[in-house]
Amino acid sequence: NPAPIDAAAVLAWYDTHARDLPWRVSPADRARGMAPDPYRIWLSEVMLQQTTVAAVKAYFLRFTSLWPTVFDLAAAPLDAVLKEWAGLGYYARARNLHACAQAVVNQHGGKFPTTSTSLQTLPGIGAYTSAAIAAICFDEPVAVLDGNLDRVLARYYALPVPVRDAKEELRAALQASVPGRAGDFAQAMMDLGATICAPRTAICMLCPIQPGCVGTKAADPALYPLKAAK
Ligand code: ADE
Repeated sequence: NPAPIDAAAVLAWYDTHARDLPWRVSPADRARGMAPDPYRIWLSEVMLQQTTVAAVKAYFLRFTSLWPTVFDLAAAPLDAVLKEWAGLGYYARARNLHACAQAVVNQHGGKFPTTSTSLQTLPGIGAYTSAAIAAICFDEPVAVLDGNLDRVLARYYALPVPVRDAKEELRAALQASVPGRAGDFAQAMMDLGATICAPRTAICMLCPIQPGCVGTKAADPALYPLKAAK
């Protein structure tokens, strides 16, 4: 059983280093009881699949100014949504986005379901997106695991096999680490993967979980994740 991640250290780091993103509620505002808007979190997470944060920001601001609520997006013509999506790629995502907005309005009275399981009944919402929305908006204690987290965890545990051969172990290790502030923890781990434990460079001296990181102790964290044989 791998040691859990020091969630308290991750949260303390996030309290002072969280990125300021247009869909995000800061840790300080979250502590004051301000809750993220599930519509905005859902929209950002769908856009962020296969697209970078830097590229998504402008699209997110444009979409939310045209369609500030899920009702507005559901009522928009599909053509208009596809036109605004141009440049983000993967148009199936935009079609699912529109279908999902209509399902939330027509089947849920305009309110997103509040659990990861129930969110998965909606078009285009799979394991990752449902977990992200449930954690960030409702603090469901669920592991939010994407490709960036795979890399962070492979380094943290000096994973001796390629990620694809240890998916369930990584998920279990992350799940065992999730604290009460599940949403801030999920967003903190994403920021850690983007700014500290980045794909090409790991700035280990700034990392809040460096003390427990097997990758830095054993060898060079950049050796991980191991490549899968073709
Ligand atoms: N990448 C995907 N989802 C993200 C989020 N909520 N915050 C930062 N980066 C992300």
